[in-house]
Amino acid sequence: MTLKIRPGVMEIAPYVGGEAAIPGIANPAKLSSNENPLGASPKAIAAFREAAAEMHRYPDGGAEKLRDGIARRFGLEKTGIVCGNGSDELIALLARAYAGPGDEVLFSAHGFLMYRLSALGAGATPKAAPEKNYATDMEALLALVTPATRIIYVGNPNNPTGSYMTAAQLRELRRRLRSDILLVIDAAYAEFVDDPGYNAGEELVRAGDNVVMLRTFSKIFGLAGLRLGWAFCPPSIADVLNRIRGPFNTSAPAQAAALAALDDREHETKSLAHNKKWRDWLSAELTNQGYRVHPSVGNFLLVEFADADAADRFLKSRGLILRKMGAYGLGHCLRITIGTEAETRALAAALADLAKGGAKMAAAR
Ligand SMILES: Cc1ncc(COP(=O)(O)O)c(C=O)c1O
Repeated sequence: MTLKIRPGVMEIAPYVGGEAAIPGIANPAKLSSNENPLGASPKAIAAFREAAAEMHRYPDGGAEKLRDGIARRFGLEKTGIVCGNGSDELIALLARAYAGPGDEVLFSAHGFLMYRLSALGAGATPKAAPEKNYATDMEALLALVTPATRIIYVGNPNNPTGSYMTAAQLRELRRRLRSDILLVIDAAYAEFVDDPGYNAGEELVRAGDNVVMLRTFSKIFGLAGLRLGWAFCPPSIADVLNRIRGPFNTSAPAQAAALAALDDREHETKSLAHNKKWRDWLSAELTNQGYRVHPSVGNFLLVEFADADAADRFLKSRGLILRKMGAYGLGHCLRITIGTEAETRALAAALADLAKGGAKMAAAR
């Protein structure tokens, strides 16, 4: 007799995070995980330290103060806010609650990997819709809808492509979906988007009872290591998430740091300005060097290479860690997180050398 594993689980190739080290190279530039290169807000760090003195206490399972802070800051109803151990946890909890064996979960072909993994983890069947120009294609998604479809995840903006759908496009998508299909708008990079035609998702959440918006403190707020994400949901979905989440799924120091981060508008503004300046600079620089750089509204760029593996080896030899994209069906690309000024300049210089034949030198070594 052997243990029985839920169907789908063994199809999961465990998520591999961005690499953080290069053997033999001290202090490499980690441009592989879309983190904030300026670090966390000093106010968040102070709040985290202060919370350490109380680490023998269980956290507030309802994250009341933090949810108050999120509601205030983003003008949302507190009852609809549910915090999670990173938005990753919320992606998985939604799959577990609303899809199972025999059900289908849809997403875009180069959508964030956790959509597929969460569908498999729930025992559901993942289905990926082809993209157009490395962007979500609404018609392709709709064409894959069947009576078995239960959830559609849309990364907006999407990682790793950097593309996004406007509020009008998302409204149209929702309008054309059956009401028993949950639309999950994953807006992990919402704070970086500078387009009045964009909405992170709250307007659609409020319009009915079948849309959820996901957000995170891992990106602009620089708290990736603390694992704090949140969902804004209609009351019925918040109720479901509160039933299936762990009672203490977010830690007390994470809640305290996140609340303080929300108050540090100066750090947020600085982070936003830094990202825009160096994303635009790097994009122009690499385009001039002859690379195909995809337009991105996030804190990262997707770049195509003649031989992405060789480029990755070459960049590593220069102490630069990028994200390989094979798991996304984009083996010809590398994803670059916008780093500090020094890191970004070093990367541009390395890629200029690569364009001049540096890749061959690296391969020959
Ligand atoms: C589109 C997208 N959604 C969700 C996440 C997960 O974020 P978190 O750190 O909150 O789990 C990421 C992280 O890279 C992401 O890129």
